[in-house]
Amino acid sequence: MSLEFRHKSVLLDECITGLNIKPDGIYVDGTLGGAGHSSEIAKRLDPSLGGRLIGIDQDEAAIETAKERLKPYADRVSIVRSNYCNFREVLDELGIDKVDGILLDLGVSSYQLDTAERGFSYMEDAPLDMRMDDRNPISAYNVVNEYSEMELFRLIRDYGEDKFAKNIAKHICMERAKAPIKTTLQLSEIVKESIPMKIRKNGGHPAKRTFQAIRIEVNHELDVLESTLDSMIDSLECGGRITIITFHSLEDRIVKVNFKRNENPCTCPSDFPVCVCGNKSKGRVITRKPILPSEEELEENSRSKSAKLRIFEHV
Ligand SMILES: C[S@@+](CC[C@H](N)C(=O)[O-])C[C@H]1O[C@@H](n2cnc3c(N)ncnc32)[C@H](O)[C@@H]1O
Repeated sequence: MSLEFRHKSVLLDECITGLNIKPDGIYVDGTLGGAGHSSEIAKRLDPSLGGRLIGIDQDEAAIETAKERLKPYADRVSIVRSNYCNFREVLDELGIDKVDGILLDLGVSSYQLDTAERGFSYMEDAPLDMRMDDRNPISAYNVVNEYSEMELFRLIRDYGEDKFAKNIAKHICMERAKAPIKTTLQLSEIVKESIPMKIRKNGGHPAKRTFQAIRIEVNHELDVLESTLDSMIDSLECGGRITIITFHSLEDRIVKVNFKRNENPCTCPSDFPVCVCGNKSKGRVITRKPILPSEEELEENSRSKSAKLRIFEHV
């Protein structure tokens, strides 16, 4: 089995149920990956009734894998290599106005993590890269070697939520003054050296948070999510749903706050007798609390550990 197909889709049944798929509906998977979720969506669609799936991913390898996997459903699937932030342009080009459901399964795939030369993993040596889209000019090498100490500190603190961010940034700058930092294991070692011995022994892998922070920066993961959610909700048909799986608290907070604001956008002071701001609700949050993986899934798939699913329905 090729690396690509080792990716186990997270919260698969929960997403499919949450999307409420209609055979004649139009669906968007903005993070196609190995098409695990998408193949389940596609098999529930009837192209003779107009059922369609638009799969988007920015990673060329994911697109190739998904094309293969979705071959049996070629009569109802369109695959586009792009960032999901361009989903509106993608839909316009296909002549689609509104859709019945949108899925985002954020973050990296097991394929990306397991392919050492992509530079996502702190466990294997490879050039510092971490780009999901290799057409982008900025890679992890540029971030690590060219950002100022203050910029590194801020991103490791904010995106990695690492309390040793200051020390890590300082160590990175000290090391790169001697020679550029070129590989994942070099970086991993520098991070390890920046963390007190006691923590190194007891915590998880010391480089995990720094790698997450740099990956988020390289791929603009939070900016893209935050700036696209409103237009995704606006593109839903009445009764259409958006389902989003997040893998860390920063992403989850963005989704939670956005859904809440779209449910209740009123900005009037709470003691106003009637609403005067004119902001109208766009729908309702289906998941008051996020849906988490079952015990069984957690046992089977360690990648599902931090997953949270939230669903919003447009009215
Ligand atoms: C967790 S995997 C998706 C796995 C997929 N749901 C499955 O079941 O096989 C995330 C995928 O989303 C892609 N991705 C992440 N952010 C993206 C973005 N902003 N635009 C397009 N693709 C993105 C990654 O390249 C990766 O292939």
